[in-house]
Amino acid sequence: MPDRGFTHTQLAARAAYLLRGNDLGTMTSAAPKLYPHMWSWDAAFVAVGLAPLSVERAVVELDTLLSAQWSNGMIPHIVFANGVDGYFPGPSRWAVSELAAHAPDGVQTSGITQPPVHAIAVQRILDHGRRHGRSTRAVAEEFLDRRWADLVRWHRWLARARDLEGNGRIALYHGWESGMDNSPRWDAAYANVVPGPIPAYLREDLVHVSDAGQRPTDAEYNRYLWLLEEMKGVRYNDEELTTAMSFAVEDVFVSAVFSLSCEVLAVIGEEHSRPHADVRDLYGWAERFRWGVIATTDERTGAARDFDLRSGKWIATETLAMFAPLLCGGLPRATELALLRTFEGPKFCGHPDLRYAVPPSTSPVSKDFRSREYWRGPVWPVMTWLYSWAFARRGWAERANMLRAEGLRQAADGSFAEYYEPFTGEPLGSMQQSWTAAAVLDWLG
Ligand code: SER
Repeated sequence: MPDRGFTHTQLAARAAYLLRGNDLGTMTSAAPKLYPHMWSWDAAFVAVGLAPLSVERAVVELDTLLSAQWSNGMIPHIVFANGVDGYFPGPSRWAVSELAAHAPDGVQTSGITQPPVHAIAVQRILDHGRRHGRSTRAVAEEFLDRRWADLVRWHRWLARARDLEGNGRIALYHGWESGMDNSPRWDAAYANVVPGPIPAYLREDLVHVSDAGQRPTDAEYNRYLWLLEEMKGVRYNDEELTTAMSFAVEDVFVSAVFSLSCEVLAVIGEEHSRPHADVRDLYGWAERFRWGVIATTDERTGAARDFDLRSGKWIATETLAMFAPLLCGGLPRATELALLRTFEGPKFCGHPDLRYAVPPSTSPVSKDFRSREYWRGPVWPVMTWLYSWAFARRGWAERANMLRAEGLRQAADGSFAEYYEPFTGEPLGSMQQSWTAAAVLDWLG
């Protein structure tokens, strides 16, 4: 039972009600005001939460996302809802329909990508499909048949266009692509981004989150917007981005998520008799990116690092990214235990002042830690969910259950916030964030 607030039954009902409220028809907005469109990794987590409610509706969510896939295979990070304003940068600022050769027809998207967590959603949809009657199972399997090639194209694009050297790490050209926009992980790389002339703009996010201290700064936004201009300058061309962008990093967290997702999809492919060549490629990428992640780790602590492709320097931070190997595996057992001890110890989940034993986005003992500022410190429930799901998959049931129990205690306030202050449990950012409700629904499903 939660220590305060809503019971589990009430919480599940409220989470379902929230997703219904954020449902725009064929897509669920990431949050009602701050994010009134579909975000790629949000959509995957939302589908995870929808699956126990309605496999059919979860399938619609992924269908909408995949219908916006670019012809080169990229899943864009935002699919814009028709006729909905209130978010910046919107379609006209991205201008992908005019500029990008691979942008889809009939739907407006952004021009960058986001972490590839979608295979996890496909797996949850198939699992729930099996639990329900024959017709629901058929919906899930028909979805897999229909979208298998698109899912493989998505993974193939990441493996080819974003790992040119074949070293098993995904390159990103914008901090937004990491999903962890203003994490200290990217401070050094952004310090080398010198904004040129940027067309005037108004930050809509600050209209919806009145405390600007919970959002990235204006200086950060100028860089975010300048990178869009750099991308537009090369018409979002994959090959030209590799040299044109002043921000280019290898993201170890995304690489681990990719390895994990390739393996999940490969197993699904085997179970559902998908083409042998696809399954072989997926296993191959799972392996290549696992070793790409492991190659970044510290021999003693197992902590993983990002890499700044522009300065040629490793980026070691005390953030969620250091735990990337726990997602995809591959560390020697003793090193893995050391990394788990760090995760559970006083630098992260075991910090004595935490309200709940869940991992903050940045360690409270790090000099970069800021308790209320977006990805610089707050706890993100969807990350608690991801680590708990991954730990269960790796066979660490007790650890997974602990994260689930603590995540649910935190969620019992019923705000379904985007992120929380780690020490007080104060909900921050957007309230009624879809993926927070989705995490709760999966935990209680
Ligand atoms: N997370 C970004 C935002 O805050 C966009 O991907 O708007």
